[in-house]
Amino acid sequence: VTFYSQNLAVPARRDLDKPEVLSGKKQFYEMGCISCHTPKFVTMRGTPNKAQAFQLIWPYSDFLLHDMGEGLADGQRVGEASGSEWRTPPLWGIGLTATVNGNSFYLHDGRARTLEEAILWHGGEGQKARDRFAGAAAADRNALIKFLESL
Ligand code: HEC
Repeated sequence: VTFYSQNLAVPARRDLDKPEVLSGKKQFYEMGCISCHTPKFVTMRGTPNKAQAFQLIWPYSDFLLHDMGEGLADGQRVGEASGSEWRTPPLWGIGLTATVNGNSFYLHDGRARTLEEAILWHGGEGQKARDRFAGAAAADRNALIKFLESL
């Protein structure tokens, strides 16, 4: 299982040149999503598995804990994480959630039924980006969703 999960490729992106997807990508940067959903990293050179060394990867996550506010809190401390802290989930492959899972439930407890709902639940450190999304023109919000669906 460890070998499988370490070596399973990320799905290729779809529709990445479509104007709406490109416009959504711009929104993703401008609304501040990237302050936690860090687009890309280069892996270290000295990995035990050579195939994973010095690779440009696009996980859209900083892999860090963030206080996401009362709305998402479950009040349970788990390891380092307080009851309102969650780790930024990588967004690569998120556009294929329904294909892979047969459902499209998002966030740590699956409460969000759509990507819009997942964004609108962001509070705490994510409140500003959430408010920018909520206050954006419908066309910009739709484009952002199309971008997420292309990942
Ligand atoms: C302060 C850091 C932060 C910012 C800024 C942020 N996010 Fe998130 N995001 C998170 C965390 C942490 C979670 C997980 C929350 C949970 O599971 O309850 C999350 C979850 C998500 C999810 C659900 C992923 C899944 O697999 O269930 C989506 C989609 C998402 N964010 C998109 C966005 C978009 C779009 C923006 C910009 C409008 C944004 N986020 C801004 C930290 C952030």
